[in-house]
Amino acid sequence: MANPIDPHILIIYGASGDLAQRKLIPAVFDLYRGGYLPEKFALLGASRTDYTDEAFREKVLFENEFMQGNGYDEDQLKAFSELLFYQDLKAYDGVEDAKKLKAKLEDLGEQFETGSNYIFYLSTPPKLYSSIPKALAEVGLNKPENGWSRLVVEKPFGYDEKSAKQLNEELQSVFRENDIYRIDHYLGKETVQNLLVTRFANGFFEPLWNRNYIQSVQITAAETVGVGSRGGYYDESGALRDMIQNHLLQVLAHVAMEPPIRADAYSIRGEKMKLFQSLRAITGEQVAQQVVRAQYDAGDTKDGHVEGYREAEGVPDDSMTETYVAMKFFIDNWRWAGVPFFIRTGKCLPLKVTEVVITFKNPPQALFSGYDDYALKCDNQLIMRIQPDEGMALEFGMKVPGEGFRVKNVDMDFFYRDLTTKDVPESYSRLLLDCMKGDPTLYARGDSVEQAWAFVDPILQAWEKNEAPLARYTAGTWGPEEADRLWDGITGASWRNPAESLIDDKHYTKL
Ligand SMILES: NC(=O)c1ccc[n+]([C@@H]2O[C@H](COP(=O)([O-])OP(=O)(O)OC[C@H]3O[C@@H](n4cnc5c(N)ncnc54)[C@H](OP(=O)(O)O)[C@@H]3O)[C@@H](O)[C@H]2O)c1
Repeated sequence: MANPIDPHILIIYGASGDLAQRKLIPAVFDLYRGGYLPEKFALLGASRTDYTDEAFREKVLFENEFMQGNGYDEDQLKAFSELLFYQDLKAYDGVEDAKKLKAKLEDLGEQFETGSNYIFYLSTPPKLYSSIPKALAEVGLNKPENGWSRLVVEKPFGYDEKSAKQLNEELQSVFRENDIYRIDHYLGKETVQNLLVTRFANGFFEPLWNRNYIQSVQITAAETVGVGSRGGYYDESGALRDMIQNHLLQVLAHVAMEPPIRADAYSIRGEKMKLFQSLRAITGEQVAQQVVRAQYDAGDTKDGHVEGYREAEGVPDDSMTETYVAMKFFIDNWRWAGVPFFIRTGKCLPLKVTEVVITFKNPPQALFSGYDDYALKCDNQLIMRIQPDEGMALEFGMKVPGEGFRVKNVDMDFFYRDLTTKDVPESYSRLLLDCMKGDPTLYARGDSVEQAWAFVDPILQAWEKNEAPLARYTAGTWGPEEADRLWDGITGASWRNPAESLIDDKHYTKL
């Protein structure tokens, strides 16, 4: 049964910023249009910029380019705007500000009959993630009498294991762990959630989902864009921190975790934690063998000519920050012993695509190889496309009509767009709705965020000490050759470079 949603106020810290306009306000409006918000609801934006309620509504609704093209109805937008308010702050973490905010929330609480139920969404620079909750605690907004208080924390959650631990301790000193929602927008994607449904709602995948039948697992998350004008920000993080530690390890957890005993937050997040604990550490000299880091040079991408990473605005000439990572690793547990896992992600690659590819082992004998050697190359692959063109394809060998026993790969496919005529909900809408319901299943738990950092930390440390080279690749290509060598010793398998459409591959015939 779905949890009912209590009346509440959603407070967005950093409401003047990019994320609020690009994602958060449009997501709340979508919930409003879909009839998901409780009848008694208000939204309070808070930041240092000096807006009146009216000016705030203009900025984030009527003049917000990310609200355009949404097919909305003017009357609906007007009615929604009346639920939006604004509080300007001197500093985010001052107690005086927290007192002002509390008084405003009490007023709104009376006006909208929302009581003392609050969601505080931290959409600010990360340095404020621990000081804002402390200021809220000083005025009792972390544990309101006769109500509840939840905290949503944006990425990045820490910079390494030590800082993530410290942030957890600071947050947990003022909020209960169950009230801390660490957002990872990948977990809001339908297709990432569908990984669990595919595995656990069907009888035929799970018996094959182990070392006996699976040869390798690969996850690719490619972007076509470079760093643009955000080079200064990006140079502080890099692809391992920005994509792998959080989003792609979460995708991996959905692919590789054990079946949870129930589909609830406690069980699912417990299994993910176990999976992260089973990741075999990559340390010291293994980093150079198992992880390839690279930076893009100037080249032509789908979006036009791109200058090299080191030429981008805000990036130092001698930057060693990676814009591409490919890695091979193992999971030391009963199910996955010996199965190689591969993850790669990069900027300025040929396509924007995220997909998971499960390659199954070949049958024990190549019975039909006498007819042509194609039978030897025939892969059984399950491709799960996370974005775009969301769906799945299962590829297998079939007989070519005619004499003999020639084999050709064909595929069976499923596209998400065929399942519903409704728009697939945006990640932020789904995740905000879950938080409103008090369901943290699709949010990251504190200990597993630390555990994911523990896996990537030794790699970051080896790079800092320059114990592994920085490879180069031309913008618009699939990355450096060094990444192909990660597959050495694995017969007949390599990166599957995705095509625009899930099944658009000259190799295959659609069934
Ligand atoms: N943008 C995205 O697509 C995206 C995606 C995923 C995660 N995030 C994360 O979400 C958070 C917010 O992102 P954003 O892109 O919205 O950031 P932003 O636009 O740079 O900042 C949000 C707001 O924070 C305030 N702020 C900025 N710099 C500050 C400073 N040095 N000290 C105090 N306040 C400052 C500003 O408001 P005032 O000056 O009015 O106070 C600004 O409007 C970040 O932690 C980011 O990592 C963003």
